[in-house]
Amino acid sequence: MTEEQDWLSVWPTAQQPAPRQRAGRYLPASTAHPAKMLPAIARTAIARYTRPGELVCDPMCGIGTTLVEAAHLGRHALGVEYEPRWAQVARANLAHATTQGAVGAGTPGAAAAGWDGRADRAAVAAARAAGRLPRRAGPCRGAGRAGLL
Ligand SMILES: C[S@@+](CC[C@H](N)C(=O)[O-])C[C@H]1O[C@@H](n2cnc3c(N)ncnc32)[C@H](O)[C@@H]1O
Repeated sequence: MTEEQDWLSVWPTAQQPAPRQRAGRYLPASTAHPAKMLPAIARTAIARYTRPGELVCDPMCGIGTTLVEAAHLGRHALGVEYEPRWAQVARANLAHATTQGAVGAGTPGAAAAGWDGRADRAAVAAARAAGRLPRRAGPCRGAGRAGLL
């Protein structure tokens, strides 16, 4: 291996087309989102950089790809999504993952226009109280007003 190849890292995350990666794992409502991430990208990053039981946060979670893959890998997940429509799909996808045996717990919060963070903070507090989030999890600040928990 040359020195140049030493730092070159390519994740084989598009070995299956996107619809096949999501088939049965994500609800049909997910297809309408215009900027979804390939599940294999989330899965690879989560498996590589976190351990089971740890917390994964996605401050712009869309249909919840990061949350769903984290839950399947036994990680807890916290998401924030600006558009209530996608936050609802993320919640449904996460619930679907649970029916498929995903063991991690996830909490996608919705952040609508005029959002002041109370709903998400309440969701996080409830998840903590129920033991679904590690107590040591610190604040997660995402982009703009919608990322504050
Ligand atoms: C590129 S998509 C992410 C898609 C996601 N990775 C998935 O697989 O579904 C970006 C998402 O961030 C949301 N978004 C944009 N600005 C935001 C903000 N300030 N706070 C939270 N969510 C935001 C958008 O509504 C959109 O759903």
